[in-house]
Amino acid sequence: MNKRYLVTAALPYSNGRLHVGHIAGAYLPADTYVRFLRSKGENVRFICGSDDNGVTALIAARKEGVSVEELTQFYNERQFQDFERLGIKFDIYGGTHQPDFVDLHNRISQDIFKVIYDKGYFVKKKATQLYDPVAKQFLPDRYVKGSCYHVKSDGTPCNYDEAYGDQCEACGNAIDPMLLINPVSTITGTTPVPRETTHWYLQLDRLENRIREWLGGKRRSAADSPAWREFVLNFSLGQISQGLPERAMTRDLDWGVPVPLDDPEAQGKTLYVWFDAPIGYVSFTAKLCEEQEGDWSRFAEWWKDENCRIVHFVGEDNTIFHVLTWPAMLMAEGTYSLPWQVVVNAFLKIRFSGREEEKISKSRGAAIWIEDYLKTFEPDPLRYYLTAIAPESGRTTFEVNDFIARNNNELLNSLGNFINRTLTFAHRYFDGKVPEAGQRSEIDFRHMTKITEQAEKIEALLGKFQFKAALGELMALARSANVYFDARKPWVQRKENMAECAVTINVCIQTVKALTVLMAPFLPSSAAKCIEMLNLDIDPDIIPWIEIEAEIPAGHQLGQPTVLFKKLDPETLFSVARDV
Ligand code: 2FM
Ligand code: ZN
Repeated sequence: MNKRYLVTAALPYSNGRLHVGHIAGAYLPADTYVRFLRSKGENVRFICGSDDNGVTALIAARKEGVSVEELTQFYNERQFQDFERLGIKFDIYGGTHQPDFVDLHNRISQDIFKVIYDKGYFVKKKATQLYDPVAKQFLPDRYVKGSCYHVKSDGTPCNYDEAYGDQCEACGNAIDPMLLINPVSTITGTTPVPRETTHWYLQLDRLENRIREWLGGKRRSAADSPAWREFVLNFSLGQISQGLPERAMTRDLDWGVPVPLDDPEAQGKTLYVWFDAPIGYVSFTAKLCEEQEGDWSRFAEWWKDENCRIVHFVGEDNTIFHVLTWPAMLMAEGTYSLPWQVVVNAFLKIRFSGREEEKISKSRGAAIWIEDYLKTFEPDPLRYYLTAIAPESGRTTFEVNDFIARNNNELLNSLGNFINRTLTFAHRYFDGKVPEAGQRSEIDFRHMTKITEQAEKIEALLGKFQFKAALGELMALARSANVYFDARKPWVQRKENMAECAVTINVCIQTVKALTVLMAPFLPSSAAKCIEMLNLDIDPDIIPWIEIEAEIPAGHQLGQPTVLFKKLDPETLFSVARDV
């Protein structure tokens, strides 16, 4: 039975612009994977949209002096444009509170909440929470800041003093806001006071064993399921061994999905944003089914069918919610499939020339915003660099100088150079036509075999979510293509033996085609340019993987060669990078 794939990328909060860290974390690897699956002829849906609910949107709207509706619609649109311009192509881009999505989203979120409620996995409890007496409101987790009380894996206290009431960004642990040391309200700056309120708690402890078994048990060794990243498993299994606390899935907030209970104490409360956000993946799929098939309920074919593989791409701060809480919700609900894979990237740090490496931060001006980058540069150099330094097994750093150097030395001097020298040679000496394949010699065959070998490696690595290594193999092929060109010396062959020169250029053109197919998941707009330069009748958005083996026939008229990659100038990038 053919598998289908439902791929999601974390829903960005619609409260600000996107920077390179966002793209490296979830969206670029997800897009690369989806493009790869499509080229293999797989049936895929790629789902994303904004995470509009919850308190982060309210904070940002308050700061910008606009309504929360205005704010979330504004950034939803702006972020979507950034994705599009980077070639990150979703099948649907929704938003949990966007006008066209909110009704279906609320309905599906409320349905899931009610089923979990009926199955008895919620416990209603009065709890003491922090209340801001000046703002006269309970403080949702994100409105409280204080020092982290956790102990790090090396036994030392974390003490990070900018920890929010839901999670500590320094040690990654979930935070109970009541335990924060020296808590402060971020709304008014006052010290909050404890006060009683009622909420519905998901009994994660009752699902611990099932989650542990799902994570560590048979699924890990299943032949058809690539291994999960070690740091994700270690972290998640570590959380389980500490015991999963009951977590309140409702909030005292009027922006979000109303709590669907006939209980006076549920009045004025909404679902916790981390309860409804992942349901966005489902409700946007439902919306897509409505648009494509006229029936939203057909989302079940993706979400409740064992032949569909669900793959979530997220950044490291989303690990708990995708590897523990979300699967727990799905287990409690009972009719949904569990994720097949959660692909987590660690954070990306940044280093500007002459500065120390630092956390990407808006307030300290340490970021490269996608909008700014795209004002001056093409998308592919950024896609290239962010994959080449992908934080797949731990944090990595975007080094501005390194970005320039790798663009100039690798993309331009290796990949771009080979394609350019091949095609210009064909135009100059073979009238822009593919020359006869002729009699290939040992060295020609060896090079053709290299293409097949590299393609197999890249295919296997992409299937295992090892994007950085796959890109490395693509570049290895580009390097050996240059080595082949230099060894054959077509510029000498041309004078001494035109038939041999034809063989060389034929092999080089077949190599350009293979490189085009192989680069397409990583560098889609460059691949599209290559399709044009090769004058092939292939949809540049889905270049079939099998095209690697299909040689272009002799006599085929090539298109005009154009510049694939440009030399980047450090000054221009620094001006973008400083303009934050
Ligand atoms: O960290 C974030 O940006 C969250 N808005 C991600 C949500 S992912 C999913 F659950 F919706
Ligand atoms: Zn901490």
